[in-house]
Amino acid sequence: MAELTEQLIAWRRAFHQAPEYAHTEVETTRRLRKILQDHEINILETPLETGLIAEIGQGEPFIAVRSDIDALPIFEQTGLSYASENKGVMHACGHDIHMAAILGTAILLKEREADLPGRVRFIFQAAEEVSQGADAIVKTGMLDGAKAIVGFHNDPTLPVGAWRAKTGYITANVDRFKIDVTGVGAHAAMPQDGVDPHIILSQLISGIQTIVSRNVAPYEEAVVTIGQVHSGETWNVIPSQGMIEGTVRTLTPEVRDLVETRMQQLCDGLALQYQADVVLDYQRLTDGVYNDAELQTLACQIAEETGYDVQEQPRAQMIGEDFASYQQIAPVHFAMIGSDSVYPLHHPQYNPNEAILDKVPYYFVNFVERLFERV
Ligand code: NI
Repeated sequence: MAELTEQLIAWRRAFHQAPEYAHTEVETTRRLRKILQDHEINILETPLETGLIAEIGQGEPFIAVRSDIDALPIFEQTGLSYASENKGVMHACGHDIHMAAILGTAILLKEREADLPGRVRFIFQAAEEVSQGADAIVKTGMLDGAKAIVGFHNDPTLPVGAWRAKTGYITANVDRFKIDVTGVGAHAAMPQDGVDPHIILSQLISGIQTIVSRNVAPYEEAVVTIGQVHSGETWNVIPSQGMIEGTVRTLTPEVRDLVETRMQQLCDGLALQYQADVVLDYQRLTDGVYNDAELQTLACQIAEETGYDVQEQPRAQMIGEDFASYQQIAPVHFAMIGSDSVYPLHHPQYNPNEAILDKVPYYFVNFVERLFERV
């Protein structure tokens, strides 16, 4: 195994052992800073409390490469020798792999710094899992003027050595909704004195399902999932309140608007019908990542040249990824790279195959060099 890969695996394991939840990645940031400084890589001043931006090269054009750095509130159950020592926090999305891979890219490009015709900024981004970190980076203005912003996610459903991406949406628009129903509490034997929120909740739950089945066109994609339902305390009381909360995933702005509009209409209709308050709080968390067509063509070639098994991804995954925020600034490209685990992302036994670290650093080195030839 190459010396660099061994070093990246060691760093990855150290990150894995000391995971930190979104916005609290203080030790992670310190370690990243130390490794980059040890390699004489310039770290830029930012207003960020966690995460950092490093830079290699000088002048224009400039290109950005991104890794996320945060972990999840999960109790690790892998039994690995380097399992999380921070109880209840786990790198279960492989952001430890991402950090190690992008450190590898930075180190390799640092060796070729004199030959670079421009700058590369490495974004080590906090708080991806809560969909806030990318916006915070965008707000620093430090990516303004970038010609392209590229990134990846490890994908446990693919074997090591597999690379997948597509033009257009590769991840979904992610929204979160909460509906509070306020009726009138009453004795269970005297429903005529109350307004029963359970009747309204049950109709909401089934009604919302009809948005995808009856309003969204069969050739469009959308998911509505209710993740929690709460109401009532006991068997012989009609409670006064209840709530449901869930998520909506879509792939176009039009379908996104349609789902939100229909959900609001259902709430308003049920409020009128049953004389209750039915209040929808609908939040748009992240847009889908939209891969630039030219970057996709280039990325496919580079992935081939780097030795990947390259295939066009047939459709978007309905997961969220705040990398989408970067497409406000520049054309972006985001790839799924195989990490071959029997357990899925966000699982307490998630264990990506570290052999992924063999190629990813070189993929981004090649990508950056080829982007410089084009921009
Ligand atoms: Ni992730």
